[in-house]
Amino acid sequence: MAQREDWQQDVLRQLGQYDGSDEAAGPAPEPTGPTARPRPTHSAPTPPEAARSTASPGSAQVSAPSSDPAVRTPRDPRLPLHAPESVPTVDPRLAHALGRPQHGDSVTRRTGRALRGLAASASRDVAEETRLAQELQQPVTTGRVIAVTSIRGGVGKSTVSALLGRTFNHYRHDPVLTLEADTALGTLPVRMGAASVRWTCADIARILTPAMQLTDVTGYLVPVADGGWLLPASQGRVGAPMDVRTYRTVTLALRRYFAVTVVDCETLPGDVARTAMDTAHARVVVAPMTAEGVNGTRQVLDWLAQLPHSALAGTVVALSANSPDTTLDEKTAAAHLRETGVSVVRLPYDRHLAQGGPIHTSVLGRATRDAAVRLAAEAMHRAVRVR
Ligand SMILES: Nc1ncnc2c1ncn2[C@@H]1O[C@H](COP(=O)(O)OP(=O)(O)OP(=O)(O)O)[C@@H](O)[C@H]1O
Ligand SMILES: [Mg+2]
Repeated sequence: MAQREDWQQDVLRQLGQYDGSDEAAGPAPEPTGPTARPRPTHSAPTPPEAARSTASPGSAQVSAPSSDPAVRTPRDPRLPLHAPESVPTVDPRLAHALGRPQHGDSVTRRTGRALRGLAASASRDVAEETRLAQELQQPVTTGRVIAVTSIRGGVGKSTVSALLGRTFNHYRHDPVLTLEADTALGTLPVRMGAASVRWTCADIARILTPAMQLTDVTGYLVPVADGGWLLPASQGRVGAPMDVRTYRTVTLALRRYFAVTVVDCETLPGDVARTAMDTAHARVVVAPMTAEGVNGTRQVLDWLAQLPHSALAGTVVALSANSPDTTLDEKTAAAHLRETGVSVVRLPYDRHLAQGGPIHTSVLGRATRDAAVRLAAEAMHRAVRVR
């Protein structure tokens, strides 16, 4: 494991990730506002274990050396640190038009399953669910980063990221972060159910210091309704896209506090997406269930195969049916992708996901929930054991 960590540090150094200094950093602004938590008055450095105030005993041990260069926050002294205003994720004039969340499964399907469930033996399901839960709950020695990307836009990256973030949060007792590393106008905050966003990745990159405790950091994050935290890339306005330096600074620094960070990346081959794919502990590539989608994803996997350190072994493909009318043979598509050595999990078409808007896990289709758990377990397995 130590060897792996060293390798990752080497990669980040080669990428020239840091050239700032502590001296340049000014005092952090108070994270006051709707998403803010009160900040403690003391500022002494605290061991990561003590900082995990929300973690339960026996859960993951998240720690990182305090010499981690990423937490020496680069700061352009010309930029004043001001407290941004909270911005709603959906224009209030549109919010009432969202409509009621519809269930992922039709009434007929739900009724049929309930009747079948009365007769069927569930012992095999229970054994499999236990295995998946153990995979999802396994302890980690340092924060694991799972990057989600795709070869094309609009295929379900933010949807998959939100499902993964929610799933990890449900199963784990230590802090989980879902981070948006997409350019402006990403949909992750809406999908995660955030009513408003305030601090962004670029703000956090300037604010973080090694002395911060988890409670300090979460004051700048959006608390997610059923637990966990969200860090948006932007306030939903057209603006400068996130740069590689910001991405590296934020992910390396936040790994100290969060057992699992799910990153909703931009589309490949963007610079941030490439960096995220190269430096993450595990990767999820979202492929639409179409011939051209699978074909393009295979090309991405062939690219990953050329990267050092068995990048493919740490990769899972989410084969996502975004339409109820897909005709591509799933088995053939999955086999084509598996030839490269990756694991493939099928994410079925879900009426609730197709609606857009906030994802309510309680109304997801049964098969969708199962797929999300399986996908998260596969990714976690790779993030911990592969690289
Ligand atoms: N499994 C699914 N079932 C039904 N519809 C889905 C599914 N996954 C995604 N969708 C639909 O696809 C749309 C786009 O998904 P999403 O925003 O997650 O894509 P994206 O890859 O993040 O897009 P972008 O490249 O713009 O960031 C969703 O709003 C939803 O309507
Ligand atoms: Mg997106």
